[in-house]
Amino acid sequence: MPLQVLDHPLASHLLASLRDERTPPQEFRQLARRLTTLLVLQATYGIRTRIDRVTTPLCETEARVLDQGLAVVPVLRAGLGMLEPIVDLFPDVAVGYIGLERHEETAVARSYYSKVPQSVEGRFTLCVDPMLATGGSAAQAISLIKAHGASQITMVSIVSAPEGVEKLQQAHPDVAIVTAALDEKLNDRHYIVPGLGDFGDRLYGTP
Ligand code: URA
Repeated sequence: MPLQVLDHPLASHLLASLRDERTPPQEFRQLARRLTTLLVLQATYGIRTRIDRVTTPLCETEARVLDQGLAVVPVLRAGLGMLEPIVDLFPDVAVGYIGLERHEETAVARSYYSKVPQSVEGRFTLCVDPMLATGGSAAQAISLIKAHGASQITMVSIVSAPEGVEKLQQAHPDVAIVTAALDEKLNDRHYIVPGLGDFGDRLYGTP
């Protein structure tokens, strides 16, 4: 599936402030929510719709309405920073959670928590993790989501590394990726460069 890099002036503007090391956590959280709104509009373009009829104060007319439920699975903890705008946009969304810890040196991800609703089957499903770095966590999270029956999955991230995109596309060629930036590389500590640092730390002000 193709990689889509969001190409919108407002998305670039919000991302620039997210990258800025001087941005404090309160502003960082707000920027992350606003940018996620733009990403999710792009990511849900393919959700199924049907034609209904509505009556305006003037006459009856055709109207296109959603015909498919949405599910979202944030990868803990940084993915939580992307959840709120999705619930605002799609109030009927089914929410699951996957907790993955990556080993400081090897960057290998280990699942310590997984709660994915059975109703993901048939739903348009978003896996959200703001930093698609090595791709190991994303690939593992998507395997867990697929094990619950989801078949139409999109990975939504804020910043991606080429290494992570390649790994995810190899592991799950059927999964679309929507991101706000494709950065240069990973450094030897598996951080995205230029990136924005540790997203979870910046979101919650962890020193
Ligand atoms: N996770 C982060 O928070 N930042 C990175 O650069 C890579 C993974």
